[in-house]
Amino acid sequence: MNAAIRAVVRTAGFYHMTVLGVLRGFHGLIHNEFIELNPRSVADIVHRGGTILKSARSEEFPTPEGQALAIQNLQKAGVEGLVIIGGDGSFRGGMRLQAAGIDVVGIPATIDNDIPCTDYSIGFDTTVNTVVEAINKIRDTASSHERIYVVEVMGRHSGHIALHAGLAGGAETVLIPEIDADLDGVCQRLISGYELGKAHSIVLVAEGVGGNFKTGRSLDESSAFHIGSYVREKTGFETRVTVLGHIQRGGNPTAQDRIMASRLGARAVEMLREGQAGCMVGVVHTEIQATPLEEVFRQEKQIDHEFYRLAHILASQ
Ligand code: F6P
Repeated sequence: MNAAIRAVVRTAGFYHMTVLGVLRGFHGLIHNEFIELNPRSVADIVHRGGTILKSARSEEFPTPEGQALAIQNLQKAGVEGLVIIGGDGSFRGGMRLQAAGIDVVGIPATIDNDIPCTDYSIGFDTTVNTVVEAINKIRDTASSHERIYVVEVMGRHSGHIALHAGLAGGAETVLIPEIDADLDGVCQRLISGYELGKAHSIVLVAEGVGGNFKTGRSLDESSAFHIGSYVREKTGFETRVTVLGHIQRGGNPTAQDRIMASRLGARAVEMLREGQAGCMVGVVHTEIQATPLEEVFRQEKQIDHEFYRLAHILASQ
């Protein structure tokens, strides 16, 4: 997100526009936490993960009082346009501000990459690379000890991280919430792999995989540990579990993330200048594309089933 903030501030500076940064998202809007940002304020941040503006969830913003305060603070500060960097929840808040006459442009930023109308959300590529690096490290010990590793990745309710990292990392099985997991089928694939000489395997599971597997058991805590114990019981293979957790949310952003964030940040400022507000600026087939926010919410981002099929073909031989 820092690369996007930098692009917004530097592009605005190029067009002689003044920028205020809002700390802690909507919480900061309500509590008047504005800081002046100039081109020098965003020096040396393009390579840093996270956000210099901090991030926080706001319980107050959804209330009429919270929104009124936020609008009042924006008007008092003379803000004419607002760039919101975030995901679904942030954009819903942005729509309320747009309805109140504050011009808003949203930039998609979530490692889950589950925002519709854009192929790409800021943070996703860095997270996928972090997961692939972790899989590489785990594969070293899995092959040395000839074990099965169940690795859980983030994604809240979507499997985009697991699918891309599974394909890139060569995971033997990828389990995602969009496709019902057949644990007996997973175990059978592990046994077949073992018979082919695969003495170790990696099962990559998205945290949102839960509910009733074919075994009829619902999962009410980390899926990976349930899957690990099920695999151990059914196959007899030595199995270990790793939950990657929040390391997926930090680290130096990849070049791809920085480039996307820069393009989206710059375009967001230009859209505000051109009066094209109430939209999210995204990337579709490498082209920058604006979509009205209400249209974004009407859709749901689909998983790429071709990716899923390919990941399993390549890992099953
Ligand atoms: O939405 C991004 C995300 O990282 C999800 O992948 C994850 O489930 C969630 O946020 C974790 O939220 P928190 O940081 O509040 O624990």
